[in-house]
Amino acid sequence: MKILVADKVHQAGIDALIAAGYDVDVKLDLSEAQLIDIIPAYDAIAVRSAVTVTRPIIEAGTNLKVIGRAGVGTDNIDKEAAADRGIEVVNTPAANVVSAAEQTFALMLACARNTCQANASMHEGRWDRAQYTGLELCGKTLGIIGFGKIGTLLAHRAKAFGMTVHAYDPYCDPDYVAQYGAILLPSLDELLQTSDVISVHLPKTPETTNMICDEQIAKMKDGVIILNVARGGICSEQALLDGLNSGKIWSVGIDVFDPEPPVDCCLAKSDRAVLTPHLGASTKEAQVRAGTQLADAIVDVLAKFS
Ligand code: MLT
Repeated sequence: MKILVADKVHQAGIDALIAAGYDVDVKLDLSEAQLIDIIPAYDAIAVRSAVTVTRPIIEAGTNLKVIGRAGVGTDNIDKEAAADRGIEVVNTPAANVVSAAEQTFALMLACARNTCQANASMHEGRWDRAQYTGLELCGKTLGIIGFGKIGTLLAHRAKAFGMTVHAYDPYCDPDYVAQYGAILLPSLDELLQTSDVISVHLPKTPETTNMICDEQIAKMKDGVIILNVARGGICSEQALLDGLNSGKIWSVGIDVFDPEPPVDCCLAKSDRAVLTPHLGASTKEAQVRAGTQLADAIVDVLAKFS
């Protein structure tokens, strides 16, 4: 059987697929038309977040049995089209979570302490100590929207920094959230009104798209920090920029964009925006885990056909 690796999946995962006896082709940066052209030859396709597996690709995949996604989110795969054709979609839900939580924490600290702006000023030969007075995280309240695996890991780290942790997640109960030292709030509004730092950890769905807009920002405390290491478009980039320009928002830390790569990202106009190019899962450790776990999941599906 043949497997197409169409995105930057770690070599450890590719080696595992080859060791399992599959014929593996690595073809990166293909357009949708190119994928449609070659997909009939393959039994499986493996991607990360950079390739969108659309309905036309899935419908052209007449031999396709499984679509593998190295990572948590499967929003770049047309799951309805896959289900219509009886093709399984597998992912690696736990492989990247520590890296994503650590990236969120890195952005939180960078926002609070002006780390990136101060670094840029040093590289320009300046010594602007007074300009970069920051904020302490200790004693502040972190509001986590979406208390899944990444949310719980973030809560654990925030507690170690002496933060109070609030969570909003309609799918969790208070006892579960309390295990992580956090307090479940009954409404999003309460979280918006009480948090000094707000971080979203949600999948991208029609309900979560633009969930953080002007209206929600208006309800937040003055000087709030907003973080998005989940999916681009959950926070409106224009609303964040307006909040930064008005002084309502202290800083934002944004790792994900809509689209990716961003086209004329408005946030790049503000030096209070700390921006990274979707690095949440990009650690050596997470990429090895995602690659090998994905290989195992693909092999499990293909084994049913041999
Ligand atoms: C994820 O959903 O786990 C990440 O977005 C994966 C990636 O960085 O490609």
